[in-house]
Amino acid sequence: MHEFRRVLDVNEVPDPGKTLVEVDGEMVALFHVEGAWYAIDDVCTHDGGPLADGELRDFRIACPRHGARFDIRTGAALTMPAVRATRAHDVKVEDAAVWVRLRSSSFADGPAAHAAGSATGRSAGAATPTPAAAPLVTDGPVAAGAGTSVPAGPLCEDVVREILKEVKDPELFVNIVDLGLIYGVTLAPSPDVPTRQHVSIDMTMTSPACPAGPQLIADTKRALAARPDVSQVEVRIVMDPPWTPDRMTDAARDQLGIF
Ligand code: FES
Repeated sequence: MHEFRRVLDVNEVPDPGKTLVEVDGEMVALFHVEGAWYAIDDVCTHDGGPLADGELRDFRIACPRHGARFDIRTGAALTMPAVRATRAHDVKVEDAAVWVRLRSSSFADGPAAHAAGSATGRSAGAATPTPAAAPLVTDGPVAAGAGTSVPAGPLCEDVVREILKEVKDPELFVNIVDLGLIYGVTLAPSPDVPTRQHVSIDMTMTSPACPAGPQLIADTKRALAARPDVSQVEVRIVMDPPWTPDRMTDAARDQLGIF
């Protein structure tokens, strides 16, 4: 159980305002809004972005890296690409000073949340842990998935994109086309069987460390391999330009409750 720690004098941060403080070895974003104080981890649950560096608007802070917004009062994730709350902490004002007590876990997943779990605080001076990145290029024939519905008609980019709408982000349950993850589709006749096509997909991820990457690649290949006129599927992961939330279609925004 943590104790309240004195972090600064009340007159050190304007209203509205924000700053970064260290509490028991962890970096905490501290906010002063409409006469009240709030504290959350300085960690975006999408990919570790520094929330204290973001834009504060009313009771929302926007991650400076990809734009996810969090409620500073609860830590709830309000918009994509974050789907999990960041940890909120207890704050009190006493003796003209602001005091913060760390909580051990988050308690407020936002409306976009689909996965359980709590954010992990970033220790002062420590690097944010990063999961292994997805492979940059994967290709080769893949067995068709059972029960996959295959749009009819000659294979073309529009049909490929329609097929890829079957592939959904496992945390957000939104398909990868509407999420804006498909940067390019290239078709070429197979050298061995000219009646079949070699399909190359340029795909991005919402972050370089997206843990769903390997699954999205495998599902993409599986969905396309269900077509009898596809001979080979290549998926290239492209991180430039980086994905941003404005790449999502209105359908994806509706699904995620983003307005
Ligand atoms: S790291 Fe915050 S939105 Fe990506």
